[in-house]
Amino acid sequence: MTGSTLFSKLPKLLHGGDYNPEQWLDRPDILEEDIRLMKEAGVNVVTLGVFSWSVIEPVEGEFHFTWLHDIMDRLYENGIYTVLSTPSGARPAWLDEKYPSALRTSRKRIQNLHGQRHNHCITSPDYRRLVRAVDERLAEQFGAHPGLILWHLSNELGGECACELCQEKFREFLRRKYHNHIEELNQQWWTTFWSHRYNDFSQIEGPAAHGEKSIHGLNLDWKRFTTENTIDFLRSEARVFREKTPEIPITTNFMHLYPALDYNKLSKEIDIVSWDSYPRYGNPDRSLYDISAENAFDHVIMRSFKKDRPFMMMESVPSLVNWHEFNKAKRPGEHRVTALQAIACGSDTVQYFQWRKSRGSYEQFHGAVIDHLGRNDTRVFRDVAEVGALLETLSEVSGSTVRSKAALLFDWDNWWAIEDAAAFSDKTKKYPQTCLNMFKLFLQNGVDVDVISSEEPLDGYEVVVAPMLYLIKPQVADHLKKFVSGGGQLIGTYITGYVNENTLCYLGGFPGGGLTELFGLYTEEIDTLYPKEKNGVQFVSDAPVSGTFSARDYCEIVKIQDASVLATYTDDFYSGTPAVTVHPYGQGNAYYVAARMEEDGMNALLKQILADAGIACRPLPGGVEYHRRQKADTAYDFYINYTTQQQEISVESGVDLVSGRPVGGTETIEPLGVMVCRVQL
Ligand code: GAL
Repeated sequence: MTGSTLFSKLPKLLHGGDYNPEQWLDRPDILEEDIRLMKEAGVNVVTLGVFSWSVIEPVEGEFHFTWLHDIMDRLYENGIYTVLSTPSGARPAWLDEKYPSALRTSRKRIQNLHGQRHNHCITSPDYRRLVRAVDERLAEQFGAHPGLILWHLSNELGGECACELCQEKFREFLRRKYHNHIEELNQQWWTTFWSHRYNDFSQIEGPAAHGEKSIHGLNLDWKRFTTENTIDFLRSEARVFREKTPEIPITTNFMHLYPALDYNKLSKEIDIVSWDSYPRYGNPDRSLYDISAENAFDHVIMRSFKKDRPFMMMESVPSLVNWHEFNKAKRPGEHRVTALQAIACGSDTVQYFQWRKSRGSYEQFHGAVIDHLGRNDTRVFRDVAEVGALLETLSEVSGSTVRSKAALLFDWDNWWAIEDAAAFSDKTKKYPQTCLNMFKLFLQNGVDVDVISSEEPLDGYEVVVAPMLYLIKPQVADHLKKFVSGGGQLIGTYITGYVNENTLCYLGGFPGGGLTELFGLYTEEIDTLYPKEKNGVQFVSDAPVSGTFSARDYCEIVKIQDASVLATYTDDFYSGTPAVTVHPYGQGNAYYVAARMEEDGMNALLKQILADAGIACRPLPGGVEYHRRQKADTAYDFYINYTTQQQEISVESGVDLVSGRPVGGTETIEPLGVMVCRVQL
């Protein structure tokens, strides 16, 4: 799919968002005005139907689609395409009244009352049957509509249910996983400790604060089960559309780095990855660049799920949200750079929640393109229209993808396992933050990096960074060895390879699973420092990096087998012992950074390793972000200036599509400016 646009019907960048006209069916004047204003704002796509169940099916078995037909037709006649959502994200009252098994149960085993959204028992056969019934009708009614480009299943799937149906399904999951052999489970969960042995699968309950929560294997398997059950639900929705409308692709919208579901696994079930981006812009303690770097991490995780095609930023907001601690308005110029960041990172869409503010209820003060004022001469409307026009100008970028030679491993299983480990310090483990910090180094150096799960094949990468890979599955150790022996440069860190896939410690030395051989060392102890403590990491005289850098939080004491020492600790009883090492393995090198070394030290090491691997860093002024998208032999170099000053950047010869000017060499990028340089490769 590399190089082709997401939708043949709409081969350009998409601009639009969630449109909930069912709130305004008694105001035809507003519906009319909406279409007029959408065209003015350069909107070419809307998402209909999210949370529309109680209007589509106000009583069981009675379906009302005329309003949806009318609106979809009118949109299409006006050049606006539709992403059509299934309504399963929130249930009508009649459903919960008649079928209480659809209500979610908490870990305390208390069943919810009707209300809110995302609160279903996704195992409930009643809920699934009723979802299928409405989905089938949607597919039949709208599958052939010329304006339909994508099915959007549910909305931000999330959470878990602990009802008896789910408990029994969890037990089935365990029976399958442990070959119906309770002793295998007892062994992998190490239940002899504290006398937690089970005699039968029927005795097992999912984790609960007032029950069992001390078995790491149980906690981890429960999370895996929740992901598997969510996938099972997603498939049950997808099946309807795959059968009835195989030509229409499917998505479900993800949230940010959401801890409760392994998005990597979910992404395999859908055709296009989409997600909803709501960074906390405007925090006076942080720069816009820094807040945006975090958002770039999320964007890149999403784009890395399917590297051969663009992703979609399904939701964002042109002004403020209503659910942050402080809901600050975007400053002038901010919307443009933040919207363009999504495109730079590989999205082919800028979409909003929502088009028009709801008059009442929970999101009545959430930002939207059209405010309660109902006018098009607002700052927000103008900002949106400006982005619409810019996306039109940048049309040719659609379908291009980011191609990286470097990868950062980020893994949900590992995240869950580290988080749950009764070890280290809950205050400083910070696994996602540590990965984000590594990501930011790539960003500062102007090097595109994919963020992928540890199970992904590593073919095509030159440099792989694997921070804190505490949980190592056997095939992952094999991948890493194959990567390095084939010529790759791998950076591993402290807290790597402590446990197997079920959280049993590796015997005979960490990093286990065969990785002591790869890194040429083993860890004897780990020292968890108090926040005010630090150690020093001093590079040896013939190391490719020079200097002494501080280390915080974690210092492992390692024993060398046949690695070379690049740096040693400066303090404490392990002063002089190895802190950074390298081990040539096959054609490549396995680096081990045994301590949480401060940013400057990690950056110096990373830059050296990138240079050795032939990956060029792109010098950038502080506050400027860079990404390259590519299509055949054309590159689109995005430069985004998050600062309020002009910045000098060095660009390759080409044309800036934003200004239409030929560019090359040193160029000035305006405050909160963007440049998109088309470069022939
Ligand atoms: C998203 C959700 C939307 C809307 C939005 C508000 O998480 O999908 O329906 O609630 O948040 O920011």
